[in-house]
Amino acid sequence: MLRITVLADERALARQEATRVADALKTKPDLVLGLPTGRTPVRLYHELGTLHSRGQVDFSRAMTFNLDEFFGIPPSHQGSYRTFMEQHLFSRVNMAPDRVHFLNGAAPDAEAECRRYEAAITAVGGIDLQLVGIGTNGHIGFNEPARELAGRTHRVTLKASTRRSNVALFGGELERVPIEALSMGMATILHARQVVLLATGKSKARCIERLVNGPLTPKLPASFLQLHRDVELVLDTAAAALLQDSQQLPAARS
Ligand code: GLP
Repeated sequence: MLRITVLADERALARQEATRVADALKTKPDLVLGLPTGRTPVRLYHELGTLHSRGQVDFSRAMTFNLDEFFGIPPSHQGSYRTFMEQHLFSRVNMAPDRVHFLNGAAPDAEAECRRYEAAITAVGGIDLQLVGIGTNGHIGFNEPARELAGRTHRVTLKASTRRSNVALFGGELERVPIEALSMGMATILHARQVVLLATGKSKARCIERLVNGPLTPKLPASFLQLHRDVELVLDTAAAALLQDSQQLPAARS
């Protein structure tokens, strides 16, 4: 069941979602969180840092699994998603390093690394709360539009548009952005008990409209979220702009 919440702006979204995570951790201190990278969750991660500094959220028993990682660079690389998460979240809260899980982009055997990640998720009983962003082409994690989608964690070749949207992590130099990545598959994501998709800005409006009103299609990997029984889209007014005509939306809250 697809639920939609529209908020006034990025700030309101970050606050609401930080409260969601903090509340979930109060209810279940050993919560297993699935986490995205990208511009969209940055404010949320900083907000969680602020809540932590006020003693309002405790990550000591939480566990995290990030959605994806570039392939061919080590975790310590400036452009890696591991570094991104360290900068924006893990260094700001009390995450135990051994409870942070990441795909290793420097693993010698990509397929074995993907199997290891799936097994690690299964071993902890699955993901409780999976946060995801969305690419402008409808990708989730690094599940790019294709004729068919991989179900489980896999190695993927990135689209030119996806490499361009990640260029800031590599000093603005496109040729430095890795060509491949490792990513949870759509089935991995859909097996999470709860999925929350965050989207802000008008560049996301078109794919959000297709996700809500369009068919299930591997051309828009995010469309498969329609199959999940507990999924919520949390949007700002710009990302929700094309839904206004076709959906009865709640008024934007701030
Ligand atoms: C990247 C990530 C995705 C993310 C997407 C959107 O390609 N692999 O997980 O959702 O970008 O990023 P942004 O939030 O910057 O728009």
